[in-house]
Amino acid sequence: MRGRFQQEIKLMRSHFCGLVDEALIGQTITLCGWADVARNMGGVVFIDLRDHEGIVQVVAEPADLPGNDEALAVAATIGYEDALRITGKVRARHSVNDKIKTGRVEVLAEKIEVLNKAEPLPFHHHENPGEDIRLKYRYLDLRSPEMQRKMRTRTKLVSALRAWLDARGFQDIETPILTKATPEGARDFLVPARMHPGEFYALPQSPQLFKQILMMAGFDRYYQIARCFRDEALRADRQLEFTQLDMEFAWVDERDVQDTVEEMIRHVFREVIQVELDEPFPRMTWAEAMRRYGSDKPDLRIALELVDVAEQVKDSGFAVFTGPANEADGRVAALRIPGGASLSRKQIDEYSAHAAKHGAKGLAYIKIADSGEITSPIQKFFDDAAFAALLKHVGAGNGDIVFFGAGKYSTVSDFMGAVRLKAGKDFGLVEDAWKPLWVTDFPMFEWDEEAGRFVALHHPFTAPAVDSIDELRAHAATAVSRGYDMVLNGNEIGGGSIRIHRPQMQAAVFELLGIDAKEQQAKFGFLLDALKYGAPPHGGIAFGIDRIAALMAGTESIRDVIAFPKTTSAQCLMTDAPSPIDDAQLAEVHVAVRNEPGA
Ligand code: AMO
Ligand code: AMP
Repeated sequence: MRGRFQQEIKLMRSHFCGLVDEALIGQTITLCGWADVARNMGGVVFIDLRDHEGIVQVVAEPADLPGNDEALAVAATIGYEDALRITGKVRARHSVNDKIKTGRVEVLAEKIEVLNKAEPLPFHHHENPGEDIRLKYRYLDLRSPEMQRKMRTRTKLVSALRAWLDARGFQDIETPILTKATPEGARDFLVPARMHPGEFYALPQSPQLFKQILMMAGFDRYYQIARCFRDEALRADRQLEFTQLDMEFAWVDERDVQDTVEEMIRHVFREVIQVELDEPFPRMTWAEAMRRYGSDKPDLRIALELVDVAEQVKDSGFAVFTGPANEADGRVAALRIPGGASLSRKQIDEYSAHAAKHGAKGLAYIKIADSGEITSPIQKFFDDAAFAALLKHVGAGNGDIVFFGAGKYSTVSDFMGAVRLKAGKDFGLVEDAWKPLWVTDFPMFEWDEEAGRFVALHHPFTAPAVDSIDELRAHAATAVSRGYDMVLNGNEIGGGSIRIHRPQMQAAVFELLGIDAKEQQAKFGFLLDALKYGAPPHGGIAFGIDRIAALMAGTESIRDVIAFPKTTSAQCLMTDAPSPIDDAQLAEVHVAVRNEPGA
């Protein structure tokens, strides 16, 4: 495939730099690329010529060949990143460089053309400037072999996915970008509608409703590599616009969807990075994940687990513990870190600060030195027997530290889950492995304290596990949904559900979410209508392409696998977006900017 492609691209060059090999020795070839480095050794110039395939060494030296002297004169003027075309003869290299693919050959230059001289660079990819500089001059950053490798991993992922899906009859269908708000839990990006003063399109947070309606429209199996837009706080694994592999299936239950996409994910990991993932993926309910790992996306590479200690502390003299230990929605959890007794006072404070960032009011601990000596701010609240029983329950021994969290169940799970991840990293307890799993049986609703109402944990179109509307209403707070997430090494890489396919149930769920009949009609009338005419049972999932590509490329941030990402302050440093719009253009779309105090 690559060979054929190479032959077709003969316009300016005969070969790619990174693919020159020993088979070409003796041949005259023409290459195009950038001067990665040029070293003038006095009388001989070495140029590392780089294209998207890699680097090859070009030598300009005096020799009895036509053009050599001229080539040498030009070579002496070459600087970093000059755009060059070089013709020369391939020969074996004296000193073999095993670090690069082309390290056994070099090209003796006969003709060097400077196609475009580069000005002094703001940075060179051999350095590691701050990310702001890299993003401002993203084209220079992307030229680096490392960024080329990461972006190519993404390309391979997408083409492996497409090939797999196309072979199985999934139909690729595009859905609108200018649309109506779909609630996925983030703020919408709005686009003023010039032809409808005062009205707005919303950019899709996902193609959710369109893909469901495609199932009602008879398409059976759909996919789309879909751009999604969510106005939410940015992090290493979140962008304002990101790409999903969005999928939907008609006439299925959750195992049909899960088994199919699990096979797909195993396939692409094998294909793109030659990794065999577990078969089948382990499965865990949401409740179990929260209890053991304090997270709905547990990183199973870390063997540490939370242990509930409400029983062991409920009669102690420490009110911070006894309160939550005796309350239904309270939790007191312990995390034992083997070898943790080496933590200094200052390091323990860092753990407290980390927990506080995740909602903790404090982080109690018991440290047991190798000698058996105990340091703990809470020992005084226990009699000796109770203290010993507590240590025994968590399995603590000499050399360990045990951290404790107490408070609301969800808060304690969150911050103890965060402490677990930090400890895993700090103590080198993250296994070098791939650990996928399914998380299932999510709660249907979450109580939003501020709004004083339920919100959907996944989205409002997710089916409840119960079929009966009465039963759902009676037990809404504890209702379980038919939603599922795919998790890999602590990252949520995909999420989906079986959907509601009857209009009565959909209306009942809207109602439980505080959306009254009038609002239902205004926002989702088209969906409720579509459900009336024989909508099939259906379900699906969406995968975060950026997140999977980042994992495959071995990078922490999805910004590394997105050509032109936004910064964490939601800007594109290269184009300077967002930017002000002049009054005339604003007037045309019937928008006036309010200068709000403090804004
Ligand atoms: P969900 O909101 O869980 O589900 O999104 C699916 C997957 O998309 C990825 N993802 C993101 N990636 C980068 N930046 C973001 N801001 C971002 N937000 C989400 C995650 C996530 O698992 N319509 C439903 C899917 C369905 O029900 O079929 C949906 O969008 O990897
Ligand atoms: P205090 O008696 O308030 O100084 O607290 C004693 C210890 O309990 C300190 O180490 C605190 O960090 C810790 N602590 C306070 N609140 C909590 C909590 N909600 N969960 C766990 N530990 C806590």
